[in-house]
Amino acid sequence: MYKIIDGKKISQEIKDELKKEVSVLAKSGKKAALAVIQAGDNPASSTYVRNKQRACEYVGIESVSYHLSEETNQEELVRLIKDLNARDDIQGILVQLPLPEHMDEDEIIRTISPEKDVDGFHPVSVGKMVIGQPGFLPCTPAGIIELLKRSGVEIAGKHCVVLGRSNIVGKPMLHLLLQEDATVTVAHSKTKNLKEITKQADILIVAIGKAEFIDASYIKEGAVVIDVGINRDENNKLKGDVKFDEAAPKTSAITPVPGGVGPMTIAMLMRNCISAIR
Ligand code: GUN
Repeated sequence: MYKIIDGKKISQEIKDELKKEVSVLAKSGKKAALAVIQAGDNPASSTYVRNKQRACEYVGIESVSYHLSEETNQEELVRLIKDLNARDDIQGILVQLPLPEHMDEDEIIRTISPEKDVDGFHPVSVGKMVIGQPGFLPCTPAGIIELLKRSGVEIAGKHCVVLGRSNIVGKPMLHLLLQEDATVTVAHSKTKNLKEITKQADILIVAIGKAEFIDASYIKEGAVVIDVGINRDENNKLKGDVKFDEAAPKTSAITPVPGGVGPMTIAMLMRNCISAIR
């Protein structure tokens, strides 16, 4: 019988722990405020931003919202970030991605002060993560490590296969798993013999952005499967990258979509905001 890894429940436990930390910090006069910037009206981004603001409210972190128009130019956004970098009353800055196409995302990420980079996307944060120094960790992969640990899944010595090589999930996932002493293989759209590789995984982490791409035939009996995919089907229903109903009975544990990795990303953002105050 497989276990469903309940990201909603685990993220709630973490938010409750963080809420206590925030109230202790508040007693010593330390307050946290997160600036959340959205450019344009991408509906998925609007949902994520709303969920992040709600989580801030729950944990006791003030969130200051900047919703800019799709036509905002690069210079305006750079100026806003520089203003926020200089403000003592703002500890964290988050720019929701993707940005409108005319913007240079790399420059925007580099403009955020590394001390306020609660997404962990700045090259300074990425460098620290790669060499194992303390710093802001990217929220989705950090959330996956936390999910595995809190579900009692041992990582050390396991063969983890990461499907996908994005800067936000796949690449940092590789480093965080290595840090936990896993053996890691990263596969992607150009990988040959994909199924042969995924079938070797003790822990399979799927972040390819293709609805229900991974069926039971890609999975080793008893593997742990983490589904990072958030796709909408023609009826606007959320679908993961894994065909859950077919895959689940072959696993020992699996995350659902929704209610798996998604809520953990937000819990880790809250954790980074609290690190930013410390
Ligand atoms: N877009 C998709 N995931 C993320 C994330 O974790 N942070 C930000 N800022 N944008 C995203």
